[in-house]
Amino acid sequence: MSWIELRKIKKSYSGSPAVRELNLKIEDRQFVTLLGPSGCGKTTTLRVIAGLEEPDSGEIIVDGKILFSREKGIFVPPEKRKLGLIFQSYALWPHMTVRKNISLALEEMHLAREKIDGIIKEVLEKVQLTEYIDRYPSELSGGQQQRVAVARMIAAEPSIFLMDEPLSNLDAMLRVDMRTELKRLHHELGATTVYVTHDQVEALTLSDRIAVMEKGILKQVGTPEEIYKKPADLFVARFVGSPRINSIEGKLVSESGNYFFKKGDIKRKINKKVESIILDLKVNSLIATIRPEDIDVSQREREGWTKADVYSVLPAGSETILSVKKDEIDLSVKVNGFTDIRMNDTVWIYIDPFKMNYYDPRSGKLILDVGLQRK
Ligand SMILES: Nc1ncnc2c1ncn2[C@@H]1O[C@H](COP(=O)(O)OP(=O)(O)OP(=O)(O)O)[C@@H](O)[C@H]1O
Ligand SMILES: [Mg+2]
Repeated sequence: MSWIELRKIKKSYSGSPAVRELNLKIEDRQFVTLLGPSGCGKTTTLRVIAGLEEPDSGEIIVDGKILFSREKGIFVPPEKRKLGLIFQSYALWPHMTVRKNISLALEEMHLAREKIDGIIKEVLEKVQLTEYIDRYPSELSGGQQQRVAVARMIAAEPSIFLMDEPLSNLDAMLRVDMRTELKRLHHELGATTVYVTHDQVEALTLSDRIAVMEKGILKQVGTPEEIYKKPADLFVARFVGSPRINSIEGKLVSESGNYFFKKGDIKRKINKKVESIILDLKVNSLIATIRPEDIDVSQREREGWTKADVYSVLPAGSETILSVKKDEIDLSVKVNGFTDIRMNDTVWIYIDPFKMNYYDPRSGKLILDVGLQRK
């Protein structure tokens, strides 16, 4: 069993905060990803868990054991934390063969030679590199080197895996293959994993839960589906998803006892059940968001649909992204496969009201989510 709890972790570098009061619980066997833009504090958080950085305050608890506490004066050094680490650079020893690179970590554990050879064979089979055992890193591709790094990490049987952007040096195709391998490996080994990436697709595809960070602050923790469908604020909404989520700033208007979100022709009734939440906020405008795949498009006029102009058409094989303009609003619309819609065409769009989320324009926080609106 291995669960990790970070309590009120703070870390600054020469007065500027890298991580601000981070609270995060990582359950046993879960694959949790720290996701966010460059400089948001992901690596710092991972290094703090590993014991490579000492936080300014807070506590780190693993399986109920305190590994760090500023208050209690506890700091367990990295080598005693039983963690497996992989960083962006593969960090294999260039002058050693694959066998020796893996063996080194095991020799430090004073295992018998036979046992070590057995483990090396086993982990290389797992990453499908058995026949490369006597090669040097320079004789391997980037993806193979990264798989050796994975083999070396799992050889020592750490109870927790920490990985910092392990796939970012690989080309796009290999990155996708390695995602599959990592997911499979996590399924087989079930080790609690903290994974760092700025790639939202990688986070969505690999994780049990995603922790989104911005400027040292944890913005939201949730399953990939929660993060995608109910982003807690506009930052998370815009950071996750490609193409970027559409946002429409509109007015909150009242007409004959009902409240509506209104922007030009786009008018949506606000559900009675959440009216009071919105009225309590005392806002007169709202920001509505809608994912590009939740807008339907038609080349014929349809009742209740909104007329728009096609600004650009970007086919990408499995999907086509249309950029459409309605008054001064630019919207991205995703359609399956190819389309015969062309630039400058007139189309009619339908924005699914049940897929819209509403945000407070001042704080950027989610007011009304899909679940609430459906009730
Ligand atoms: N050793 C250090 N000395 C001074 N400042 C640092 C140090 N390490 C990190 N920082 C600063 O702390 C902040 C967070 O850095 P961190 O490396 O955790 O970001 P990150 O989210 O991993 O970004 P990236 O995606 O670029 O790797 C940044 O502003 C960075 O400049
Ligand atoms: Mg980093």
